[in-house]
Amino acid sequence: MSQIPREIIDEIIHRSDIEQVIGSYVTLKRAGSNLNGLCPFHNEKTPSFTVFPATKSFYCFGCGAGGDAITFVMRTENLDYRAALEVLAQRAGISIPTDDTGAEEGVPRKRLYEMNLEAAKFFRNCLFDEQYGKEALAYLHEHRKLSMATIKHFGLGYSPNNWWMLTNYMKGKGYTDDELATGFLCGKSRESGRPYDYFRNRVIFPIIDTSGNIVAFGGRVMDDSKPKYLNTSDTPAFKKSRHLFALNFAKKHCEEQMLLCEGYMDVIALHAAGFENAVATLGTAITPEQARIFAKYTKKVVICYDADNAGQNAAQKAMRLLSEVGVEVRVLKLSGAKDPDEYIKKFGVEAFRRVLGESKSGFDYNLEKIANTYDLSLPEEKIKASADVCAIISGAYAEVEREIYIKRAAERLEISDEALRRDVERARRARARDAKQKESREAQLSVKNIGDRVNPDAAKYIRATSAEEALLGLMLIYDEFRRAAADGTVPISADDFVTDFSRRVFVALCELERSEAGYSKAMLGQMFDIDEMGRIEKIEIDRRRLARNDREVFLACIDGIKQEKAKLCERADDDPFADLRRKQEELKNKKKDKNT
Ligand code: UTP
Ligand code: MN
Repeated sequence: MSQIPREIIDEIIHRSDIEQVIGSYVTLKRAGSNLNGLCPFHNEKTPSFTVFPATKSFYCFGCGAGGDAITFVMRTENLDYRAALEVLAQRAGISIPTDDTGAEEGVPRKRLYEMNLEAAKFFRNCLFDEQYGKEALAYLHEHRKLSMATIKHFGLGYSPNNWWMLTNYMKGKGYTDDELATGFLCGKSRESGRPYDYFRNRVIFPIIDTSGNIVAFGGRVMDDSKPKYLNTSDTPAFKKSRHLFALNFAKKHCEEQMLLCEGYMDVIALHAAGFENAVATLGTAITPEQARIFAKYTKKVVICYDADNAGQNAAQKAMRLLSEVGVEVRVLKLSGAKDPDEYIKKFGVEAFRRVLGESKSGFDYNLEKIANTYDLSLPEEKIKASADVCAIISGAYAEVEREIYIKRAAERLEISDEALRRDVERARRARARDAKQKESREAQLSVKNIGDRVNPDAAKYIRATSAEEALLGLMLIYDEFRRAAADGTVPISADDFVTDFSRRVFVALCELERSEAGYSKAMLGQMFDIDEMGRIEKIEIDRRRLARNDREVFLACIDGIKQEKAKLCERADDDPFADLRRKQEELKNKKKDKNT
């Protein structure tokens, strides 16, 4: 747990004006006593993101993100609790006593970075080791044609064909089995519980964040075996949806534009060829978070995906996500090679520079694709082509942009501007309607707790969850109810709760209430992750919106929870499969009758 003294945390929160903190990231408009804006955590056209200055909190009614200033900074800057506090402290001009841990729950982030650095050294030494690394070095240097300088620049390595070499080495350096497993450097044998190396006989690509920390690894086989790549899964120090491979280098070369590739090898080949603005996602399709990273660093992205169908389909998604965050998108079309790495090897750097210059804007790329899909000499095909184009143009946000597209498409498809413009406006109205409907549908789904990751029990125990959340809401808002629950003057305890999440919130509230420093909402951020903080915020908001929040209601909630729990215990006493068993028995007997 963080070592920042409690008084300082309270002071940071007290001195952080949530309106200003959030206002420096989001354009907010006053709406009564609250403020509204477009949510920075999901893409939306109508604002459902709300800041509540009175409670120093925020909540998005669209995606459920919510919490206090700390949670907000954790989310936007991808930081842990302590680091987010440091950001706020700096803003508020408060100094935090230094402390060498960056502890969250489990293994501290800093410890994982140190561990990864140690592992990277091990992998690199193995690659250059006469005995272990010969084949791997030959693979990278001779087969993949990477220069020694490039291999070193990217810190590439090799994990030997052995189940315990890294594990033993790291244990020798003082890392425990648990730490190694948390950092995904080793797995644990299901039978013996014994740790074993996660990466074996693979060339290793370290993934480095923009501060220079090694946050993860990718490992490639050197033949055709599967899986081709293994990647570090998410750890407390790494979310793969929020990182880009080689951004640590590319960030210095990206003002004008960046290149987005599919693979590690493409990025490495591009950097080696002088295109140091190339990055790749980490084995997944581009995420909205990654799109926002691009928006932060550059104005223009050229998508350099593989030439195959999968690559071209993925390009469509990337185009959409990147345009949504206001980045100008171009798409590279390669022919004669499957990806940038192969293209440069086959045709050379200058040829690549040429196709890069010829990359088309997202719109032209799609227009060309549509024009080639239909036979434009046939009127009915031309109508279809114009409908497809119209669907794309109507998605463009700015009118000036739509006007340019309309002119270009009208010319290419040989139709009149005016007709296309009318269709586009009609499509825009339809889109606005759909978006409204979709937003309210999604909001309803989240209210009904379908697909609820924060509280997976909620869908199963709807009545219990609603009683629990009402009780927790009251405890969050009113000191007297929280105190009554914590000191046992009302008959409710952790065991009464049906859903795990509610129980954890209850326990946290009581513990904080009983702690020496007393309750402070800011402390919840240490105990719950950002998605959970969003839910806690919602529980409080839902309660605040109701008029009756007195002791009678509080006691009724307690009764409600207890009743639901009792029902559940009764059900568990019965044989849950009794019905099923009886039916199976009947079926068997019927079959027997038939056979005899
Ligand atoms: P590719 O199959 O295009 O690989 O996957 P590549 O990077 O071009 O590698 P080479 O040229 O065959 O050596 C693109 C990216 O998808 C992820 C990796 O990040 C890879 O760089 N990937 C691919 C995985 O995570 N797992 C896999 O099994 C395959
Ligand atoms: Mn490749």
